[in-house]
Amino acid sequence: MSDRLYIFDTTLRDGEQVPGCQLNTVEKIQVARQLEQLGVDVIEAGFPISSPGDFNSVIEISKAVTWPTICALTRAVQKDIDVAVEALKYAKRKRIHTGIGTSDSHIKYKFNSNREEIIERAVAAVKYARRFVDDVEFYAEDAGRTENEYLARVVEAVIKAGATVVNIPDTTGYCLPAEYGAKIKYLCDHVAGVEHAILSTHCHNDLGMATANTMSGVLNGARQAEVTINGIGERAGNTSLEEVAMILKCHKGLGITTNINTTKIYPTSRMVSSLMNMPVQPNKAIVGRNAFAHSSGIHQDGVLKNVQTYEIIDPKDVGIDDNAIVLTARSGRAALKHRLSVNGVDIDDEKLDKVYQEFLNLADKKKEITDDDILILAGADRADLHNIKLEYLQVTTGKGVRSVASIGLSISGEKFEAAATGNGPVDAAIKALKVIIRREMTLKEFTIQAISKGSDDLGKVHMQVEHDGHLYYGFGANTDIVTASVEAYIDCINKFKK
Ligand code: KIV
Ligand code: ZN
Repeated sequence: MSDRLYIFDTTLRDGEQVPGCQLNTVEKIQVARQLEQLGVDVIEAGFPISSPGDFNSVIEISKAVTWPTICALTRAVQKDIDVAVEALKYAKRKRIHTGIGTSDSHIKYKFNSNREEIIERAVAAVKYARRFVDDVEFYAEDAGRTENEYLARVVEAVIKAGATVVNIPDTTGYCLPAEYGAKIKYLCDHVAGVEHAILSTHCHNDLGMATANTMSGVLNGARQAEVTINGIGERAGNTSLEEVAMILKCHKGLGITTNINTTKIYPTSRMVSSLMNMPVQPNKAIVGRNAFAHSSGIHQDGVLKNVQTYEIIDPKDVGIDDNAIVLTARSGRAALKHRLSVNGVDIDDEKLDKVYQEFLNLADKKKEITDDDILILAGADRADLHNIKLEYLQVTTGKGVRSVASIGLSISGEKFEAAATGNGPVDAAIKALKVIIRREMTLKEFTIQAISKGSDDLGKVHMQVEHDGHLYYGFGANTDIVTASVEAYIDCINKFKK
Protein backbone atom coordinates (compact mmCIF):
# COMPACT_ATOMS: atom_id res chain seq x y z
CA MET A 1 0.00 0.00 0.00
CA SER A 2 1.19 3.50 -0.84
CA ASP A 3 2.55 5.61 2.01
CA ARG A 4 1.11 8.79 0.60
CA LEU A 5 -2.02 10.22 2.22
CA TYR A 6 -4.09 12.40 -0.12
CA ILE A 7 -5.52 15.49 1.52
CA PHE A 8 -9.04 16.36 0.39
CA ASP A 9 -10.00 19.78 1.66
CA THR A 10 -13.71 20.46 2.10
CA THR A 11 -13.47 23.88 3.78
CA LEU A 12 -15.34 25.41 0.85
CA ARG A 13 -18.14 22.81 0.92
CA ASP A 14 -18.70 21.09 4.28
CA GLY A 15 -16.94 23.94 6.11
CA GLU A 16 -18.88 26.62 4.33
CA GLN A 17 -22.20 25.00 5.29
CA VAL A 18 -21.84 26.55 8.76
CA PRO A 19 -24.62 29.13 9.14
CA GLY A 20 -23.22 32.63 8.78
CA CYS A 21 -19.84 31.49 7.39
CA GLN A 22 -20.78 31.82 3.73
CA LEU A 23 -18.17 33.34 1.46
CA ASN A 24 -18.71 35.14 -1.80
CA THR A 25 -17.03 33.87 -4.97
CA VAL A 26 -14.08 36.26 -4.72
CA GLU A 27 -13.37 35.12 -1.17
CA LYS A 28 -13.69 31.47 -2.16
CA ILE A 29 -11.13 31.98 -4.92
CA GLN A 30 -8.78 33.56 -2.39
CA VAL A 31 -9.14 30.53 -0.10
CA ALA A 32 -8.79 28.08 -3.00
CA ARG A 33 -5.53 29.70 -4.14
CA GLN A 34 -4.23 29.54 -0.60
CA LEU A 35 -5.18 25.84 -0.40
CA GLU A 36 -3.22 25.27 -3.58
CA GLN A 37 -0.17 26.93 -1.97
CA LEU A 38 -0.72 24.78 1.08
CA GLY A 39 -0.44 21.71 -1.12
CA VAL A 40 -3.81 20.02 -0.79
CA ASP A 41 -4.53 17.33 -3.37
CA VAL A 42 -8.25 17.90 -3.79
CA ILE A 43 -10.41 20.98 -3.22
CA GLU A 44 -14.11 20.29 -2.78
CA ALA A 45 -15.35 23.54 -4.26
CA GLY A 46 -19.08 23.25 -3.69
CA PHE A 47 -22.39 21.54 -4.32
CA PRO A 48 -23.30 23.06 -7.71
CA ILE A 49 -26.99 22.16 -7.82
CA SER A 50 -27.63 23.64 -4.38
CA SER A 51 -27.51 27.29 -5.51
CA PRO A 52 -26.39 29.51 -8.39
CA GLY A 53 -23.72 30.89 -6.02
CA ASP A 54 -22.24 27.42 -5.48
CA PHE A 55 -22.41 26.66 -9.19
CA ASN A 56 -20.58 29.85 -10.04
CA SER A 57 -17.96 29.32 -7.35
CA VAL A 58 -17.09 25.88 -8.74
CA ILE A 59 -16.66 27.44 -12.19
CA GLU A 60 -14.46 30.28 -10.93
CA ILE A 61 -12.36 28.10 -8.61
CA SER A 62 -11.81 25.69 -11.51
CA LYS A 63 -10.41 28.56 -13.56
CA ALA A 64 -8.29 29.97 -10.72
CA VAL A 65 -6.54 26.82 -9.53
CA THR A 66 -4.09 24.63 -11.45
CA TRP A 67 -2.72 21.68 -9.49
CA PRO A 68 -5.32 20.35 -7.09
CA THR A 69 -8.20 18.28 -8.37
CA ILE A 70 -11.45 20.24 -8.20
CA CYS A 71 -14.31 18.23 -6.80
CA ALA A 72 -18.05 18.94 -6.95
CA LEU A 73 -20.62 17.31 -4.67
CA THR A 74 -23.84 15.74 -5.91
CA ARG A 75 -26.59 13.47 -4.65
CA ALA A 76 -27.02 10.17 -6.47
CA VAL A 77 -29.28 11.96 -8.93
CA GLN A 78 -28.66 12.45 -12.67
CA LYS A 79 -29.67 16.12 -12.68
CA ASP A 80 -27.15 16.88 -9.88
CA ILE A 81 -24.43 15.14 -11.85
CA ASP A 82 -25.30 17.02 -15.06
CA VAL A 83 -25.02 20.34 -13.23
CA ALA A 84 -21.74 19.31 -11.58
CA VAL A 85 -20.28 18.32 -14.96
CA GLU A 86 -21.19 21.75 -16.33
CA ALA A 87 -19.69 23.52 -13.28
CA LEU A 88 -16.44 21.55 -13.62
CA LYS A 89 -15.92 22.27 -17.29
CA TYR A 90 -12.88 24.54 -16.73
CA ALA A 91 -11.16 22.31 -14.16
CA LYS A 92 -7.79 20.94 -15.27
CA ARG A 93 -8.34 17.89 -13.04
CA LYS A 94 -11.90 17.14 -12.05
CA ARG A 95 -13.78 14.82 -9.76
CA ILE A 96 -17.46 14.19 -9.13
CA HIS A 97 -18.36 13.26 -5.57
CA THR A 98 -21.68 11.45 -5.60
CA GLY A 99 -23.38 9.33 -3.00
CA ILE A 100 -26.34 8.27 -0.93
CA GLY A 101 -27.16 7.36 2.69
CA THR A 102 -26.46 3.73 3.55
CA SER A 103 -27.38 3.40 7.23
CA ASP A 104 -30.70 1.74 8.03
CA SER A 105 -32.11 4.99 9.37
CA HIS A 106 -31.18 6.90 6.19
CA ILE A 107 -32.55 4.12 3.99
CA LYS A 108 -35.84 3.95 5.90
CA TYR A 109 -36.53 7.55 6.91
CA LYS A 110 -34.71 9.59 4.30
CA PHE A 111 -35.34 7.48 1.24
CA ASN A 112 -38.26 5.25 2.26
CA SER A 113 -36.33 2.55 0.43
CA ASN A 114 -34.52 -0.73 1.03
CA ARG A 115 -30.92 -1.93 0.95
CA GLU A 116 -31.04 -3.46 -2.54
CA GLU A 117 -32.56 -0.39 -4.12
CA ILE A 118 -29.92 1.83 -2.48
CA ILE A 119 -27.13 -0.28 -4.03
CA GLU A 120 -28.83 0.04 -7.42
CA ARG A 121 -29.08 3.82 -7.08
CA ALA A 122 -25.45 4.07 -5.93
CA VAL A 123 -24.21 2.00 -8.87
CA ALA A 124 -26.34 3.93 -11.36
CA ALA A 125 -25.01 7.27 -10.09
CA VAL A 126 -21.37 6.16 -10.28
CA LYS A 127 -21.82 4.73 -13.79
CA TYR A 128 -23.58 7.89 -14.92
CA ALA A 129 -20.84 10.14 -13.48
CA ARG A 130 -18.14 7.98 -15.12
CA ARG A 131 -19.66 8.82 -18.51
CA PHE A 132 -18.35 12.38 -18.01
CA VAL A 133 -15.25 12.16 -15.80
CA ASP A 134 -12.56 9.58 -15.05
CA ASP A 135 -12.38 10.40 -11.39
CA VAL A 136 -15.54 9.58 -9.41
CA GLU A 137 -15.71 9.48 -5.65
CA PHE A 138 -18.64 7.76 -3.96
CA TYR A 139 -19.78 8.63 -0.42
CA ALA A 140 -21.80 6.24 1.70
CA GLU A 141 -23.47 8.82 3.91
CA ASP A 142 -23.72 7.79 7.57
CA ALA A 143 -21.28 4.93 6.91
CA GLY A 144 -20.25 5.32 10.55
CA ARG A 145 -23.58 3.80 11.58
CA THR A 146 -23.90 1.42 8.63
CA GLU A 147 -23.49 -2.26 9.37
CA ASN A 148 -20.06 -3.34 8.03
CA GLU A 149 -21.29 -6.33 6.02
CA TYR A 150 -23.79 -4.25 4.06
CA LEU A 151 -21.32 -1.37 3.71
CA ALA A 152 -18.82 -3.78 2.15
CA ARG A 153 -21.43 -4.81 -0.43
CA VAL A 154 -22.07 -1.15 -1.30
CA VAL A 155 -18.35 -0.38 -1.58
CA GLU A 156 -17.70 -3.43 -3.73
CA ALA A 157 -20.58 -2.54 -6.06
CA VAL A 158 -19.51 1.08 -6.56
CA ILE A 159 -15.88 0.15 -7.18
CA LYS A 160 -17.06 -2.32 -9.79
CA ALA A 161 -19.18 0.47 -11.31
CA GLY A 162 -16.06 2.65 -11.65
CA ALA A 163 -15.60 4.61 -8.41
CA THR A 164 -11.97 5.64 -8.02
CA VAL A 165 -12.33 6.78 -4.41
CA VAL A 166 -14.81 5.57 -1.80
CA ASN A 167 -15.61 7.87 1.08
CA ILE A 168 -16.65 6.36 4.41
CA PRO A 169 -18.18 9.30 6.30
CA ASP A 170 -18.86 9.21 9.99
CA THR A 171 -21.56 11.78 9.26
CA THR A 172 -22.83 12.10 12.81
CA GLY A 173 -19.44 11.87 14.55
CA TYR A 174 -20.65 8.79 16.43
CA CYS A 175 -17.86 6.23 16.00
CA LEU A 176 -15.14 5.41 18.49
CA PRO A 177 -11.61 5.49 17.01
CA ALA A 178 -11.15 1.73 17.30
CA GLU A 179 -14.56 1.11 15.75
CA TYR A 180 -13.90 3.46 12.82
CA GLY A 181 -10.45 1.95 12.22
CA ALA A 182 -11.96 -1.53 12.35
CA LYS A 183 -14.55 -0.48 9.76
CA ILE A 184 -11.82 0.61 7.33
CA LYS A 185 -9.88 -2.58 7.99
CA TYR A 186 -13.02 -4.66 7.44
CA LEU A 187 -13.49 -3.01 4.05
CA CYS A 188 -9.82 -3.54 3.12
CA ASP A 189 -10.12 -7.22 4.05
CA HIS A 190 -13.57 -8.03 2.65
CA VAL A 191 -14.18 -5.94 -0.46
CA ALA A 192 -13.18 -7.66 -3.68
CA GLY A 193 -11.38 -5.13 -5.90
CA VAL A 194 -10.66 -2.71 -3.05
CA GLU A 195 -7.15 -2.27 -4.48
CA HIS A 196 -8.68 -0.46 -7.48
CA ALA A 197 -9.91 2.44 -5.34
CA ILE A 198 -8.74 4.64 -2.51
CA LEU A 199 -10.69 4.55 0.74
CA SER A 200 -11.29 7.95 2.26
CA THR A 201 -12.05 9.13 5.80
CA HIS A 202 -14.59 11.88 6.41
CA CYS A 203 -15.11 12.38 10.13
CA HIS A 204 -17.25 14.82 12.07
CA ASN A 205 -16.38 16.06 15.50
CA ASP A 206 -19.64 15.73 17.44
CA LEU A 207 -17.95 13.77 20.21
CA GLY A 208 -14.55 15.42 19.80
CA MET A 209 -13.11 12.36 18.04
CA ALA A 210 -12.84 13.52 14.42
CA THR A 211 -9.04 13.61 14.28
CA ALA A 212 -8.65 10.42 16.33
CA ASN A 213 -11.10 8.64 14.04
CA THR A 214 -9.36 9.93 10.91
CA MET A 215 -5.98 8.75 12.18
CA SER A 216 -7.43 5.38 13.10
CA GLY A 217 -8.87 5.11 9.58
CA VAL A 218 -5.53 6.05 8.04
CA LEU A 219 -3.61 3.58 10.20
CA ASN A 220 -6.00 0.89 9.03
CA GLY A 221 -5.64 1.55 5.32
CA ALA A 222 -7.48 4.72 4.25
CA ARG A 223 -5.30 6.82 1.95
CA GLN A 224 -7.36 9.96 1.62
CA ALA A 225 -8.46 12.19 4.52
CA GLU A 226 -11.28 14.72 4.14
CA VAL A 227 -10.57 17.71 6.31
CA THR A 228 -11.20 21.42 6.77
CA ILE A 229 -9.04 24.33 7.87
CA ASN A 230 -9.46 24.98 11.61
CA GLY A 231 -11.81 21.97 11.70
CA ILE A 232 -14.74 24.15 10.68
CA GLY A 233 -17.92 22.47 9.59
CA GLU A 234 -21.51 21.93 10.55
CA ARG A 235 -22.28 21.42 14.25
CA ALA A 236 -18.98 20.57 16.00
CA GLY A 237 -17.12 20.61 12.68
CA ASN A 238 -14.95 18.26 10.63
CA THR A 239 -11.46 16.85 11.12
CA SER A 240 -8.93 19.66 10.97
CA LEU A 241 -6.35 19.58 8.24
CA GLU A 242 -3.63 21.06 10.40
CA GLU A 243 -3.96 18.34 13.03
CA VAL A 244 -3.69 15.46 10.56
CA ALA A 245 -0.78 17.08 8.70
CA MET A 246 1.17 17.78 11.89
CA ILE A 247 0.47 14.37 13.44
CA LEU A 248 2.04 12.75 10.39
CA LYS A 249 4.95 15.19 10.43
CA CYS A 250 5.62 14.61 14.14
CA HIS A 251 5.21 10.84 13.90
CA LYS A 252 7.57 10.18 11.00
CA GLY A 253 7.86 6.59 12.19
CA LEU A 254 4.40 5.91 10.78
CA GLY A 255 5.95 6.35 7.35
CA ILE A 256 2.91 8.14 5.94
CA THR A 257 3.45 11.44 4.15
CA THR A 258 1.33 14.24 2.73
CA ASN A 259 2.01 16.98 0.21
CA ILE A 260 1.21 19.70 2.74
CA ASN A 261 3.66 22.58 3.03
CA THR A 262 3.18 22.94 6.76
CA THR A 263 4.68 26.45 6.87
CA LYS A 264 1.52 27.64 5.12
CA ILE A 265 -0.75 26.25 7.83
CA TYR A 266 -0.90 29.28 10.11
CA PRO A 267 -1.50 31.90 7.40
CA THR A 268 -4.21 29.69 5.89
CA SER A 269 -5.85 29.30 9.27
CA ARG A 270 -5.82 33.08 9.83
CA MET A 271 -7.20 33.73 6.37
CA VAL A 272 -10.11 31.30 6.74
CA SER A 273 -10.93 32.52 10.24
CA SER A 274 -10.89 36.12 9.11
CA LEU A 275 -12.89 35.66 5.90
CA MET A 276 -15.50 33.50 7.61
CA ASN A 277 -15.59 35.61 10.77
CA MET A 278 -15.17 32.38 12.67
CA PRO A 279 -12.81 32.73 15.63
CA VAL A 280 -10.33 29.96 16.38
CA GLN A 281 -10.60 28.79 19.98
CA PRO A 282 -7.46 29.94 21.85
CA ASN A 283 -6.53 26.40 22.91
CA LYS A 284 -7.10 24.86 19.46
CA ALA A 285 -4.28 22.45 18.61
CA ILE A 286 -1.66 23.80 16.16
CA VAL A 287 -3.34 27.12 15.28
CA GLY A 288 -4.90 28.42 18.52
CA ARG A 289 -3.46 31.58 20.05
CA ASN A 290 -2.22 29.59 23.06
CA ALA A 291 -0.97 26.54 21.14
CA PHE A 292 2.66 27.54 21.71
CA ALA A 293 2.28 29.82 24.74
CA HIS A 294 3.98 28.47 27.83
CA SER A 295 2.63 30.26 30.88
CA SER A 296 3.50 28.09 33.85
CA GLY A 297 6.84 28.80 35.50
CA ILE A 298 8.04 25.20 35.21
CA HIS A 299 7.28 25.09 31.49
CA GLN A 300 8.87 28.47 30.82
CA ASP A 301 12.00 27.45 32.67
CA GLY A 302 12.23 24.20 30.68
CA VAL A 303 11.60 25.87 27.34
CA LEU A 304 14.25 28.48 28.01
CA LYS A 305 16.78 25.73 28.76
CA ASN A 306 15.80 23.69 25.73
CA VAL A 307 12.61 24.11 23.71
CA GLN A 308 12.33 20.37 23.20
CA THR A 309 11.44 19.93 26.87
CA TYR A 310 7.87 21.06 26.27
CA GLU A 311 7.52 21.74 22.54
CA ILE A 312 6.97 18.92 20.08
CA ILE A 313 6.49 21.29 17.16
CA ASP A 314 8.69 24.18 16.15
CA PRO A 315 6.19 27.05 15.64
CA LYS A 316 8.10 28.00 12.48
CA ASP A 317 7.14 24.62 10.98
CA VAL A 318 3.51 25.74 10.91
CA GLY A 319 4.33 29.23 9.68
CA ILE A 320 4.30 31.13 12.95
CA ASP A 321 7.04 33.64 12.53
CA ASP A 322 8.09 35.17 15.84
CA ASN A 323 10.42 37.53 14.06
CA ALA A 324 7.67 38.89 11.89
CA ILE A 325 8.14 42.60 11.33
CA VAL A 326 5.70 44.61 13.36
CA LEU A 327 4.04 47.34 11.34
CA THR A 328 3.88 50.88 12.70
CA ALA A 329 2.80 54.29 11.41
CA ARG A 330 6.21 54.54 9.71
CA SER A 331 5.79 51.35 7.66
CA GLY A 332 5.30 51.85 3.96
CA ARG A 333 2.93 50.31 1.43
CA ALA A 334 5.50 47.64 0.45
CA ALA A 335 5.76 46.36 4.05
CA LEU A 336 1.98 46.25 4.34
CA LYS A 337 1.65 44.42 1.03
CA HIS A 338 4.34 41.93 2.04
CA ARG A 339 2.69 41.22 5.40
CA LEU A 340 -0.69 40.74 3.77
CA SER A 341 0.79 38.35 1.26
CA VAL A 342 2.48 36.33 4.03
CA ASN A 343 -1.04 35.99 5.42
CA GLY A 344 -2.33 34.77 2.08
CA VAL A 345 -3.96 38.02 0.93
CA ASP A 346 -2.77 39.39 -2.40
CA ILE A 347 -4.30 42.71 -3.33
CA ASP A 348 -3.98 45.00 -6.32
CA ASP A 349 -2.50 48.51 -6.07
CA GLU A 350 -5.87 50.22 -6.02
CA LYS A 351 -7.05 48.22 -3.04
CA LEU A 352 -3.64 48.55 -1.42
CA ASP A 353 -4.04 52.34 -1.49
CA LYS A 354 -7.39 52.07 0.33
CA VAL A 355 -6.16 49.56 2.90
CA TYR A 356 -3.00 51.61 3.45
CA GLN A 357 -5.09 54.68 4.25
CA GLU A 358 -7.09 52.68 6.82
CA PHE A 359 -3.83 51.28 8.13
CA LEU A 360 -2.46 54.80 8.72
CA ASN A 361 -5.68 55.80 10.51
CA LEU A 362 -5.37 52.79 12.78
CA ALA A 363 -1.64 53.32 13.29
CA ASP A 364 -2.50 56.81 14.55
CA LYS A 365 -4.51 55.23 17.37
CA LYS A 366 -2.42 52.15 17.97
CA LYS A 367 1.37 51.80 18.19
CA GLU A 368 1.88 48.34 16.72
CA ILE A 369 -0.28 46.80 14.04
CA THR A 370 -0.60 43.02 14.10
CA ASP A 371 -1.39 40.48 11.38
CA ASP A 372 -4.91 40.19 12.78
CA ASP A 373 -5.39 43.93 12.39
CA ILE A 374 -4.30 44.06 8.76
CA LEU A 375 -6.47 41.06 7.86
CA ILE A 376 -9.42 42.93 9.34
CA LEU A 377 -8.53 46.07 7.39
CA ALA A 378 -8.16 44.11 4.16
CA GLY A 379 -11.60 42.54 4.67
CA ALA A 380 -13.33 45.76 5.75
CA ASP A 381 -14.59 46.54 2.26
CA ARG A 382 -16.86 43.51 2.49
CA ALA A 383 -19.19 45.80 4.46
CA ASP A 384 -19.42 48.06 1.38
CA LEU A 385 -21.78 45.50 -0.12
CA HIS A 386 -24.03 45.56 2.93
CA ASN A 387 -27.53 46.84 2.65
CA ILE A 388 -27.62 48.15 6.21
CA LYS A 389 -24.75 50.37 7.35
CA LEU A 390 -23.93 52.10 10.59
CA GLU A 391 -23.72 55.84 9.96
CA TYR A 392 -23.10 57.06 13.50
CA LEU A 393 -23.41 55.96 17.09
CA GLN A 394 -23.31 58.07 20.20
CA VAL A 395 -23.52 56.59 23.67
CA THR A 396 -23.56 58.24 27.08
CA THR A 397 -22.75 55.90 29.90
CA GLY A 398 -21.21 55.80 33.33
CA LYS A 399 -21.56 54.52 36.87
CA GLY A 400 -24.96 55.02 38.50
CA VAL A 401 -26.71 56.22 35.32
CA ARG A 402 -28.72 54.42 32.66
CA SER A 403 -26.90 54.36 29.33
CA VAL A 404 -28.41 56.31 26.45
CA ALA A 405 -27.64 55.62 22.80
CA SER A 406 -28.57 57.38 19.59
CA ILE A 407 -27.91 55.68 16.32
CA GLY A 408 -28.04 56.49 12.62
CA LEU A 409 -28.40 53.76 10.00
CA SER A 410 -28.47 53.82 6.26
CA ILE A 411 -30.68 51.14 4.73
CA SER A 412 -30.33 50.85 0.97
CA GLY A 413 -29.22 54.46 0.98
CA GLU A 414 -32.17 55.77 3.07
CA LYS A 415 -31.31 57.35 6.46
CA PHE A 416 -32.93 56.35 9.76
CA GLU A 417 -32.31 57.57 13.32
CA ALA A 418 -33.41 56.33 16.74
CA ALA A 419 -32.52 56.55 20.43
CA ALA A 420 -32.99 54.25 23.41
CA THR A 421 -31.84 53.70 26.97
CA GLY A 422 -30.43 50.45 28.23
CA ASN A 423 -28.72 48.47 30.87
CA GLY A 424 -25.19 49.39 29.76
CA PRO A 425 -23.89 50.93 26.52
CA VAL A 426 -24.18 47.85 24.29
CA ASP A 427 -27.73 47.15 25.47
CA ALA A 428 -28.76 50.77 24.82
CA ALA A 429 -27.18 50.75 21.36
CA ILE A 430 -28.81 47.45 20.34
CA LYS A 431 -32.20 48.63 21.65
CA ALA A 432 -31.88 51.79 19.54
CA LEU A 433 -30.96 49.62 16.54
CA LYS A 434 -34.06 47.49 17.11
CA VAL A 435 -36.28 50.59 17.07
CA ILE A 436 -35.29 50.91 13.40
CA ILE A 437 -34.98 47.23 12.45
CA ARG A 438 -38.28 45.81 13.57
CA ARG A 439 -37.59 42.13 13.10
CA GLU A 440 -37.84 39.25 15.53
CA MET A 441 -34.23 38.46 16.53
CA THR A 442 -32.46 37.22 19.61
CA LEU A 443 -28.83 37.62 20.57
CA LYS A 444 -27.53 34.10 21.26
CA GLU A 445 -23.83 34.63 21.73
CA PHE A 446 -21.67 37.66 22.24
CA THR A 447 -17.90 37.32 22.47
CA ILE A 448 -15.52 40.20 22.90
CA GLN A 449 -12.04 39.01 22.06
CA ALA A 450 -9.55 39.76 24.81
CA ILE A 451 -7.67 42.93 24.15
CA SER A 452 -4.26 41.59 24.96
CA LYS A 453 -1.92 44.08 23.46
CA GLY A 454 -2.88 47.34 25.15
CA SER A 455 -5.91 49.53 25.66
CA ASP A 456 -5.52 51.01 22.17
CA ASP A 457 -6.05 47.61 20.51
CA LEU A 458 -8.87 46.85 18.08
CA GLY A 459 -11.75 45.26 19.97
CA LYS A 460 -13.08 42.26 18.06
CA VAL A 461 -16.65 41.15 18.57
CA HIS A 462 -18.26 37.93 17.39
CA MET A 463 -22.01 37.56 17.68
CA GLN A 464 -24.62 34.97 16.93
CA VAL A 465 -28.17 36.17 16.35
CA GLU A 466 -31.20 33.93 15.87
CA HIS A 467 -33.80 34.97 13.35
CA ASP A 468 -36.62 32.92 11.89
CA GLY A 469 -35.14 29.64 13.15
CA HIS A 470 -31.67 30.30 11.70
CA LEU A 471 -28.44 31.32 13.40
CA TYR A 472 -26.34 34.07 11.86
CA TYR A 473 -22.74 34.90 12.74
CA GLY A 474 -21.52 38.47 12.66
CA PHE A 475 -18.22 40.19 13.25
CA GLY A 476 -17.20 43.73 14.10
CA ALA A 477 -13.83 45.30 14.84
CA ASN A 478 -13.20 48.78 16.10
CA THR A 479 -11.03 50.53 18.66
CA ASP A 480 -14.38 51.41 20.27
CA ILE A 481 -15.87 48.19 21.64
CA VAL A 482 -19.49 49.43 21.64
CA THR A 483 -19.23 50.34 17.96
CA ALA A 484 -17.63 46.95 17.24
CA SER A 485 -20.59 45.27 19.00
CA VAL A 486 -23.18 47.17 16.98
CA GLU A 487 -21.26 46.46 13.77
CA ALA A 488 -21.25 42.74 14.59
CA TYR A 489 -25.01 42.85 15.19
CA ILE A 490 -25.56 44.68 11.89
CA ASP A 491 -23.30 42.14 10.13
CA CYS A 492 -25.69 39.39 11.33
CA ILE A 493 -28.77 41.28 10.14
CA ASN A 494 -27.23 41.83 6.73
CA LYS A 495 -27.02 38.08 6.34
CA PHE A 496 -30.68 37.36 7.15
CA LYS A 497 -32.43 35.39 4.45
CA LYS A 498 -35.02 37.84 3.13
O1 KIV B 1 -20.77 14.13 6.38
C1 KIV B 1 -21.11 13.63 5.30
O2 KIV B 1 -21.63 12.52 5.23
C2 KIV B 1 -20.89 14.42 4.10
C3 KIV B 1 -21.13 13.76 2.78
C4 KIV B 1 -22.06 14.57 1.93
C5 KIV B 1 -19.84 13.49 2.11
O3 KIV B 1 -20.48 15.56 4.18
ZN1 ZN C 1 -19.59 15.92 6.17
